[in-house]
Amino acid sequence: MKPRALVTRLLPPAVMDRLRRETALALEPADRVLTPAELIAAIAPCDALLPSVTETIDAAVIGAAPQLRVIANFGVGFNHIDVAAATARRIFVTNTPGVLTETTADIAFGLLIAAGRRFSEGERLARSGQWAGWGPLQLLGHDIAGATLGLVGFGRIGRAMARRARGFGMRVIYCGRSRLPADVERDLGVEHRERDALLDESDFVSLHVAYTPETHHLIDQGALARMKPTAVLVNTSRGAVVDESALVQALRQGTIAAAGLDVFEREPRMEPGLAGLPNCVLLPHLGSATIGTRTRMGMMAVDNLLAACRGERPPNCVNAVVPG
Ligand code: 8YV
Repeated sequence: MKPRALVTRLLPPAVMDRLRRETALALEPADRVLTPAELIAAIAPCDALLPSVTETIDAAVIGAAPQLRVIANFGVGFNHIDVAAATARRIFVTNTPGVLTETTADIAFGLLIAAGRRFSEGERLARSGQWAGWGPLQLLGHDIAGATLGLVGFGRIGRAMARRARGFGMRVIYCGRSRLPADVERDLGVEHRERDALLDESDFVSLHVAYTPETHHLIDQGALARMKPTAVLVNTSRGAVVDESALVQALRQGTIAAAGLDVFEREPRMEPGLAGLPNCVLLPHLGSATIGTRTRMGMMAVDNLLAACRGERPPNCVNAVVPG
């Protein structure tokens, strides 16, 4: 018997082909977000759920599926899933670590350069028909080489950022849940700082923490005030790690120079004022958006889903559920 699976969004073709072969799909996924009512109705007879970041998988959704064995998330971040509610029902929750590390670090480093070197303002000027020609003082940005990059969070994607930064001639400091052994720091060419010291010292600050109650609005008015007026903030983690209304104020008042953002607290809505600011580069959550990476994420999610439905502990399980 194939497991009955609810796949909430249309995934890359190779992943859909495999899902059609190896599972019984509860509905034909479309390239749109299901409403909470549609989600609850569709999940009722399912053994497995394969959600994306666009759905909130709360206790009501989990409670609507008496047979559910696994929530195999399409993505590494799983803050949109009520893991405690799943664990209480002995439902596995899985994610897709590793396969999107380099792709997401590329977007973060791209935003670092784009915000630091004012790509958005330059692009708008070039397209506007108003460009009067080259000028020695036109759209001057901030040097990357020789600058200090502060990495807040130093897991897989933070470390991939550190490797890129070294290639660009930056000095790298980091803060995280724990300090690395000195020989590992030496090998990676990074130095540890406490968070406030990192904010004081950095020319670029890039966020690579998971979103949890502890990291909610980690970058608030006080943190922004610590940063240099020439500093650039990059966020590719989760929007709510930054207090966006404080960020709009800081960008408006010149508390910091610029920001590059791929994630927002209330996606797809933007904090009022943000989209009108010239000194920020905004992307619509593209961190892992390549066909190769999205296919790898999908295949990993399907591996997790099928393992759980075979009664095994799935390889990328994030909660303490024992099979059986
Ligand atoms: C995904 C992400 O695109 O993996 C994550 O946590 O934020 C993105 O890379 C998203 O989760 C898709 O569901």
